[in-house]
Amino acid sequence: MTEQTTKTDERDYDEYRVVQDLGGWKRTHSCSQLTAANVGEEVTIMGWVQFRRDHGGLIFIDLRDREGLTQTVFSPEVAPEAHERAHAIRIEYVVALRGIVKPRPEGMTNTSMHTGEIEVYVTEWKLLNTSDTPPFPIEDRVDAAEMLRLKYRYLDLRRPRLARNFILRNKAAQSVRRYLDSLGFLEIETPVLTKSTPEGARDFLVPSRVNQGMFYALPQSPQIFKQLLMVGGLDRYFQIVKCFRDEDLRADRQPEFTQIDIEMSFPDEEQIMGMAEGLVRTLFAETIGVALPAAFQRMSYKQAMDEYGVDKPDVRFGLKLVDVKDIFVGGGFKVFAGAPMLKAIRVPGGLELSRKEIDDYTEFAKIYGAQGLAWIKVKEDGEWQSPIVKFFSEDEKAKLAERLGMVPGDIVFFQAAPADVTNASLGNLRLKLGERFGLIDEKAYAPLWVTDFPLLEYDPEDKRWVAKHHPFTSPQPGQMDTIASDPGGALARAYDLVLNGNEIGGGSIRIHTPGAQKAMFSALGIGEQEAEEKFGFLIEALKFGAPPHGGIAFGLDRIIMLLTGSKSIRDVIAFPKTQKAACQMTEAPNVVDNRQLRELGIRLREKVAEAAPEETKNEA
Ligand code: AMO
Ligand code: AMP
Repeated sequence: MTEQTTKTDERDYDEYRVVQDLGGWKRTHSCSQLTAANVGEEVTIMGWVQFRRDHGGLIFIDLRDREGLTQTVFSPEVAPEAHERAHAIRIEYVVALRGIVKPRPEGMTNTSMHTGEIEVYVTEWKLLNTSDTPPFPIEDRVDAAEMLRLKYRYLDLRRPRLARNFILRNKAAQSVRRYLDSLGFLEIETPVLTKSTPEGARDFLVPSRVNQGMFYALPQSPQIFKQLLMVGGLDRYFQIVKCFRDEDLRADRQPEFTQIDIEMSFPDEEQIMGMAEGLVRTLFAETIGVALPAAFQRMSYKQAMDEYGVDKPDVRFGLKLVDVKDIFVGGGFKVFAGAPMLKAIRVPGGLELSRKEIDDYTEFAKIYGAQGLAWIKVKEDGEWQSPIVKFFSEDEKAKLAERLGMVPGDIVFFQAAPADVTNASLGNLRLKLGERFGLIDEKAYAPLWVTDFPLLEYDPEDKRWVAKHHPFTSPQPGQMDTIASDPGGALARAYDLVLNGNEIGGGSIRIHTPGAQKAMFSALGIGEQEAEEKFGFLIEALKFGAPPHGGIAFGLDRIIMLLTGSKSIRDVIAFPKTQKAACQMTEAPNVVDNRQLRELGIRLREKVAEAAPEETKNEA
């Protein structure tokens, strides 16, 4: 936003700041189109003023639209009137410029710009609108706080990097539609005002005016509807669809996000995974020209948890977790001897880590519930440096060195804790270490199917078994019978697609008979009456010749985040929400007036009402 002020600038140019009509002018080119091939042509371009240099003699203006920039020149010799009026132009003004394309003078070409060989000598121009000075510079190297940028999101969207994200997002959506259409999938819409379906998060509720005291839920996904479309014989469905989940937000989570939702009749896992691989491969090829592997790697959930500690491993690098519990059973170091799970991670080159870095990693492990983080450094002379080896026997040391393949220069980290803590803390530490030691090839794409998930998972808060995916997921053959005796042992016909450590999709073969679906509800502790109230319509539908069916849903925002190399999902959503699920720009959510509440038959609880602004307070 550099703007060189010259003497002439001090004049008041308000007489030139009269907003004009387009008056029949038509754009001939975008701001990224013109090259040496256009030299000599008369062109008309329209856009925003990115940059202005006023030398008193020539005035240079870089004009921006979503596609790029064009340098333009106002010369007192070429067009005196146009030049004189151009003194009034300021940053972010909207202008239409007509002029002649000329080659830039010797040595002035800019090879980093598509239009860097030319400039447009303006002969005539129109001021289409003025602009207040924007609250932050509109350029990619912006350091304005994100909250400010979200408040003025429409200005942030003018930044080239954000504009590019949405251009790519459109390409991706069209690519998905072409691919699925070519395979006979029908794009069908499903309701947004619906009944709560269990997807593991909290629902957003919408009160009904016509049916007071009753609520719709916004769909966490169209799961049940897409199954009903299969019962309806439509055979192959897809939808690029908004889903709503009231859950804690992270860099890769938004309360409303978009799925590529897919369901098909008469498939097995291989067919769905094959179709899904084709979709992702096509998407990558058509948007960023990357050829993904012809067959994606596969790994069982068990192997993922054993070796990577997480169910969405980043397999672009090693540093696998190693179970060393057996070595220390009954040994002298109490923390290890009594551990429910003990795993280690050997990091070549880790000897260079400072005490401060190790302390930081210990704090990091604590986020996941760890009590501490034990470590051993292997010095260049082979000696072990560690606060804990004094408790180890020679036999334990020898076995450990062999199991891990310890060599000079290494550091080994240990976690001794219940399985979930050990896996989560070391699994996430592994990612940090991969970054710290430059082990992650940022240009690589490593898609991975995770399969053979457990059907159920114990929820320690609710003290009951819940579906790991959702309660419509089919168990693997023969496993329905063992659910009651061994709820944790049953495996699901489910699969997740992971890319570079991000879960980008997940799905399953579904239960398609009423008996099996009822058995599943009962295994989840959902009584017959509750099942009837919540899912009666689904069980009813399954009684009328439901075909075997299955599907998958991809997180479109996450995929676009990966395709554009964005750090946050917010960069690929036009109007995203903040960490507190709020919109900075519109200030949603917000209070509503009493009349609206009354119509809905809603009265705020006293405490809530006290905190709320005047207009929402309960009437006496
Ligand atoms: P699931 O809950 O795994 O499956 O969701 C599918 C994919 O959606 C993405 N995703 C999200 N993206 C952004 N913000 C969120 N809050 C968010 N939550 C999920 C993830 C995830 O892999 N109905 C099933 C699918 C099926 O069984 O066919 C479902 O919704 O990338
Ligand atoms: P302490 O005996 O508590 O002083 O711990 C000795 C070392 O073991 C310290 O480096 C701790 O960070 C580490 N430590 C403590 N608890 C655990 C644990 N559960 N798993 C791994 N390391 C631990």
